[in-house]
Amino acid sequence: SQIKQVEFVKSSAKPKDCPKDALPEFAILGRSNVGKSSLINALVRKKEVVLTSKKPGKTQLINHFLVNKNWYIVDLPGYGFANAPESTRMDWSSFTKGYFLNRETLVAVLLLVDASIPPRKIDLDCANWLGRNNIPMTFVFTKCDKMKASKGIRPDENIKNFQEIIRENYREPPPWIMTSSVTGLGRDELLLHMSQLRNY
Ligand code: GTP
Ligand code: MG
Repeated sequence: SQIKQVEFVKSSAKPKDCPKDALPEFAILGRSNVGKSSLINALVRKKEVVLTSKKPGKTQLINHFLVNKNWYIVDLPGYGFANAPESTRMDWSSFTKGYFLNRETLVAVLLLVDASIPPRKIDLDCANWLGRNNIPMTFVFTKCDKMKASKGIRPDENIKNFQEIIRENYREPPPWIMTSSVTGLGRDELLLHMSQLRNY
């Protein structure tokens, strides 16, 4: 399940511009600043594959990365800009929805959730939208290295709260994986998980 090679293929402004070679793909989705681009870099073990930034909203296109020449990781624009009023709303463009509803080669969505802050309504709205539309997803908790670091914030409590909400909302809760792009936590688990889903 290891990544031997990765190449950036293209950025698409519309779902219909995405690669048409029918290879399986995983979409990386989550709030702006949750760590989507960092996670991709960590999976690939390269700093410079995807641009990361402290400024939210950096990723504005559908970006396809070809892994081992036989599957894709897709970096998507973040939703709910961290410091804007929109952060309480799920205001996806029809473009993002169109991608999820029409991309036949999509194996699963990796829905990233920041473990270092309490659960956000927008993440649940997003999970519920995917669930209602029968789009397979895995919850990926990010920034789990911040476990002890910050004052008053208890990521283990955040994660527990989030898992409880998930359990209440789903008869069969989606899988979840703890990760950190800083320490590499969860990297191998996530790669194995994706290889199992691809071969399913
Ligand atoms: P957009 O493209 O704007 O939607 O953001 P993004 O989700 O791609 O986030 P990005 O990977 O650019 O990371 C945002 C910030 O969080 C950066 O300052 C990262 O260094 C930091 N960050 C990302 N992952 C981790 C992590 O696992 N641990 C810690 N401590 N910081 C992280
Ligand atoms: Mg990004």
